[in-house]
Amino acid sequence: MEAVATLVNIAALDRPEDDISALPSILAATVGRNIEDIYRGNDKGILKDVELLRQITEASRGAISAFVDRSTNNKGQVVDTSDKLTSLLGFGLNEPWIQYLSNTQFYRADREKLRVLFGFLGECLKLIVANNEVGSLKQALEGKYVEPGPGGDPIRNPKVLPTGKNIHALDPQAIPTVAALQSAKIVVERLLERQKADNGGKYPETVALVLWGTDNIKTYGESLAQVMWMIGVRPVADGLGRVNKVEPVSLEELGRPRVDVVVNCSGVFRDLFINQMNLLDRAVKMVAELDEPEDQNFVRKHALEQAKTLGVDVREAATRVFSNASGSYSSNINLAVENSSWNDEKQLQDMYLSRKSFAFDSDAPGAGMMEKRQVFEMALSTADATFQNLDSSEISLTDVSHYFDSDPTNLVQNLRKDGKKPSAYIADTTTANAQVRTLSETVRLDARTKLLNPKWYEGMLSTGYEGVREIEKRLTNTVGWSATSGQVDNWVYEEANTTFIKDEEMLNRLMNTNPNSFRKLLQTFLEANGRGY
Ligand code: BEZ
Ligand code: MG
Repeated sequence: MEAVATLVNIAALDRPEDDISALPSILAATVGRNIEDIYRGNDKGILKDVELLRQITEASRGAISAFVDRSTNNKGQVVDTSDKLTSLLGFGLNEPWIQYLSNTQFYRADREKLRVLFGFLGECLKLIVANNEVGSLKQALEGKYVEPGPGGDPIRNPKVLPTGKNIHALDPQAIPTVAALQSAKIVVERLLERQKADNGGKYPETVALVLWGTDNIKTYGESLAQVMWMIGVRPVADGLGRVNKVEPVSLEELGRPRVDVVVNCSGVFRDLFINQMNLLDRAVKMVAELDEPEDQNFVRKHALEQAKTLGVDVREAATRVFSNASGSYSSNINLAVENSSWNDEKQLQDMYLSRKSFAFDSDAPGAGMMEKRQVFEMALSTADATFQNLDSSEISLTDVSHYFDSDPTNLVQNLRKDGKKPSAYIADTTTANAQVRTLSETVRLDARTKLLNPKWYEGMLSTGYEGVREIEKRLTNTVGWSATSGQVDNWVYEEANTTFIKDEEMLNRLMNTNPNSFRKLLQTFLEANGRGY
């Protein structure tokens, strides 16, 4: 039955390339609505849409549970779904999802679309429950062949299942895909809408954002495509599906100004996707050279200003794609925070600038990564917003130290001439209805669902020693967010203190289970207090 939740998420995505409609879209159509409009209405708090989306979600779960029920035996094991399906498909009225939906307001759902979708879900179910891991590991240890296959996010692409394969990544030149661009457009438009709503209707002139390698593998280049859509270019694939060209999207089609970017590529992204860094650099330079009004093309506006100030030509000033020097990774802010080896926030910001200011220049082939710190600082000083993506429900903001390690929010504030704090946003693309939230909202949500959630910390504690370390790690990573962005509410620390320190029984459990991590937890509380967080 655990497969139901996974299948509900898989069923929520349209798959136009395979002619598969999403279950929520099919259900919405029966009441004369478009699912995207319902998502929008729901996000705006329109009660009618909130209620309708709740009903659609419940009906999706119900229909899929009915299907999984029929495909499993009385021990809850999946019996051969293909046989079951074949026999089910013979009897139109008997299909379990039709039976379920006939008792709901969605009884008129398109049968043919449902049949195609559930045929696909049946294949997915077999893959989900395949359970090949121990067998494959044993085979590998015996020096036998393990079948290779692509890795990635099983919701976006269930064909990465079953687990227990010899996983490889993708053709690094094959991203972004058409589907990735489609998802990217939605996130970019939501980000710009949110920024406008919070800033008197003004578009941001520049967004400082982050590209990770693993994320772009999982999403087939969604965040790469976001950068392209912000500056208003479209990726163009050749006959073999390799994306090695971009073309400008007209201002009419874009319907807004081209937004400037400062791209912080992780070291892993640089290693995996150097061709895509090259492509992005060419895209930025191309956009900076378009003959367009400066209030409609912020890339050009800033590049012209910077060229003048720095005494370089426009193409050189239009340098926006940065990473570490070759062979170097991370800003190391995470290490400094984890080891408490930093005096003040300025020190962390200097580390960021000195380590992440290397650019790949498409006009200097073969030159490798070159330090371009002045342009980096000038570009960051124009940022009105900072932005990162969360694309998997398994790893969130305080689970690892690498998200705050990439965050330049306070740094941008220091570099801006007006000293204004930029807005900070996080996109959550883990479900069909992608969300863009502010960083502070996302930190709050993370604290509520993990560090301060009894289900989470009791679950951790039930694993013993390592669980205490996990709790301590969340608190340290929270301090990291205070240090780089100042977007953590006081109550997060207050409630953590109440939960883990003031409660004497809890304090003793932590201390006895893992005295080292408990000591670090105490130190971190004292440090957060000492630093005024
Ligand atoms: C990356 O995939 O780019 C990445 C992986 C681990 C830490 C930071 C970045
Ligand atoms: Mg790294």
